[in-house]
Amino acid sequence: MKSISILAILLAPTAVFGLLDAKFKAKGRRYYGAIADPNTLSNTQVQTLLKTEFGAITPENSLKWDATEPSRGSFNFGNGDQTVNFATSNGRLVRGHTLVWHSQLPGWVSSITDKATLTTVLQNHVTTLVSRYRGKIYAWDVVNEIFDDSGNFRQSVFYKVLGETFVDIAFKAARAADPAAKLYINDYNLDGPGNKIDQLLALVNRLKSRGIPIDGIGSQAHLILGQVGGVQAQLVRLGATGLEVALTELDIRIPKDVTSAKLSQQQNDYATVTRACLAVSNCVGITVWGVSDRNSWVDSTFPTYDSPLLFDDNFAKKPAYNGVDGALN
Ligand code: XIL
Repeated sequence: MKSISILAILLAPTAVFGLLDAKFKAKGRRYYGAIADPNTLSNTQVQTLLKTEFGAITPENSLKWDATEPSRGSFNFGNGDQTVNFATSNGRLVRGHTLVWHSQLPGWVSSITDKATLTTVLQNHVTTLVSRYRGKIYAWDVVNEIFDDSGNFRQSVFYKVLGETFVDIAFKAARAADPAAKLYINDYNLDGPGNKIDQLLALVNRLKSRGIPIDGIGSQAHLILGQVGGVQAQLVRLGATGLEVALTELDIRIPKDVTSAKLSQQQNDYATVTRACLAVSNCVGITVWGVSDRNSWVDSTFPTYDSPLLFDDNFAKKPAYNGVDGALN
């Protein structure tokens, strides 16, 4: 009797405090993560939640091109190092985000017009970042948002100058620099059927047939309240490639004004999305794009929406948290 109650106490932390990452791992998955960077890590409540609830960290901005290589060949890893060190020193996985993206890209890159220069620049950028964090990064988003909303290749400098081969160049350089890191293609609007996901899947097949080292597909999952019903069916299609899949930037934004009815809808929506990942055996992880509603890109990007995350402005659990927790129990 006594030993049983001691055992119960020992097991209590997971059961009572509901560490999302531990529960997700108990379902055979790899991580339930969130984002960070020095600007949010400076808040001790953010640090505490990252340590208690989340098992992986994606640097929100500090590994992007404008932050890491603001001018050609001159690299800056101050914020990236701080975030990666916080994660690894606390035993957390890191998702590296992101090597090749049209946005947050310095002007000196977008003004390159010749193939040889852009190839060298691309290889050098990828090799430098991936080598620096070799052995510390679980997965890299090698290419991000390379399709536009219609499913055509986005007319980025990379595509305009190099065509589709920019993808091959980036993945090959990443693999060479850290053979153990999982290499992902990442994009948004993969939550519903349409040309975009069709084209992404077609590209993944071409990459595989050319022997390009790709390991995973990230579906950002920036979702809108009440519009999450398509997530599972599309995740099944992504998973059918045999690659790892992950929800890499999950948030579910609420059209203003926020009411308690909308917060309970959000709870259901988070539960639905969690179950969608659990329904796909190779869905290895979920990352929420923010710890608390206090720090979310939604405020500035979608000003008519609010409150997309699991914890509120004061770091208290929202019904959304219970949605995830309930789906994991
Ligand atoms: C966002 C960050 O959250 C913001 O702080 C930044 O100002 C803009 O970028 N898709 C992505 C992420 O792949 O990198 C974006 O992050 C959100 C959309």
